[in-house]
Amino acid sequence: MANPPAFETLAVHAGQEPDPLSGAVMEPIVLATTFAQPEPAKPLRFDYSRSGNPTRAALEACLAALEGGTFGFAFASGCAAATTLLHTLRPGDHVVCGDDVYGGTYRLFERVLRPLGIEASFVDLRDPAHLESALTARTRMVWLETPTNPLLRLVDLRAAAELVRPREIPLVVDNTFASPALQRPLVLGATVALHSTTKYVNGHSDVVGGALVTSDPELAKRLAFLQNAIGAVPSPMDCYLVLRGIKTLAIRMQRHGETAAELARRLEGAAGVRHVHYPGLPRHPQHALCRRQMSSGGGMISLELDGDLEAARRFLRALRVFTLAESLGGVESLAEHPGLMTHASIPRERREVLGITDSLVRLSIGLEHVDDLWGDLEGGLAAARRA
Ligand SMILES: Cc1ncc(COP(=O)(O)O)c(C=O)c1O
Repeated sequence: MANPPAFETLAVHAGQEPDPLSGAVMEPIVLATTFAQPEPAKPLRFDYSRSGNPTRAALEACLAALEGGTFGFAFASGCAAATTLLHTLRPGDHVVCGDDVYGGTYRLFERVLRPLGIEASFVDLRDPAHLESALTARTRMVWLETPTNPLLRLVDLRAAAELVRPREIPLVVDNTFASPALQRPLVLGATVALHSTTKYVNGHSDVVGGALVTSDPELAKRLAFLQNAIGAVPSPMDCYLVLRGIKTLAIRMQRHGETAAELARRLEGAAGVRHVHYPGLPRHPQHALCRRQMSSGGGMISLELDGDLEAARRFLRALRVFTLAESLGGVESLAEHPGLMTHASIPRERREVLGITDSLVRLSIGLEHVDDLWGDLEGGLAAARRA
């Protein structure tokens, strides 16, 4: 491979060599739970599959390479990755968390960690000054998403990293919405990149998985311990599927982004649309930042319909090419209602403050032809207007 290989090349090859025995060009799925040891307590590379597995090791090396990091860890879900990472905290610790995060992340902080004595403050991190004033003597971690879910707001990663670095606490970036094909938080100064690999990284809506990548050797040591001790690891079969999905990540993300940008442009002027949230639109308030830290606006669009909850229901019911479903990042286009679905675990008052209204719908733009998707959206908008 050329040095250093480009992202597309890493996506196909990183962590994987043809099998030395058979020459097989695809990573073997090693289902064995245990590995023969030549001497007692002297395993070769692996001893027990929760602690380490060849297929998972290939995925972990590939993920680390894609994020420009050194150490990769794969998990059974994005929430499992988050939970394992959060076990580095202690009662009495404080976390500054972005205010517009995945509902399940909010739930983890509020309903799992808070009762254990770990407190999170939810802060609008679009302005770095808000981050600065939220940091306290007890703050042991900063956690954010960019673009955010579901409002597609951005956080300036370089600015956040500059504020966090002197405190020697980890800056954790959930990079699920962008994927490493569009944005590489570690390269911009973050300590940990987190993924729900369920989404773009696998990309085919057939695996639930998660990942953490870091270049910090001390943190990596702790994460390796916690990954094994907590045990929320993925199956070798799932690791194989994610590895296979990654091979097309670059090309998928390019098409997701092109189609989403075109649909966002068409939606901006469409009847029945009050607002389009898409960072790739020149009118997005953080478009300049998008151009600086992402290589495209990505494949997610959120849409404020000109109507109420019933209009949103009519819109979603009328869709034929988009599937009404949770999740995102697959080859098929999906539509959902954050207030009723993905973000229902956030209390209504909080959702209203954030701007997650009854008329907000979220679209995950798949790989279908742009005109078929546009026709479907036009049908949905017409149904929404038909009170
Ligand atoms: C941005 C983001 N982070 C984390 C998660 C959690 O991932 P998982 O569902 O794989 O546990 C999700 C799930 O939707 C997500 O959208």
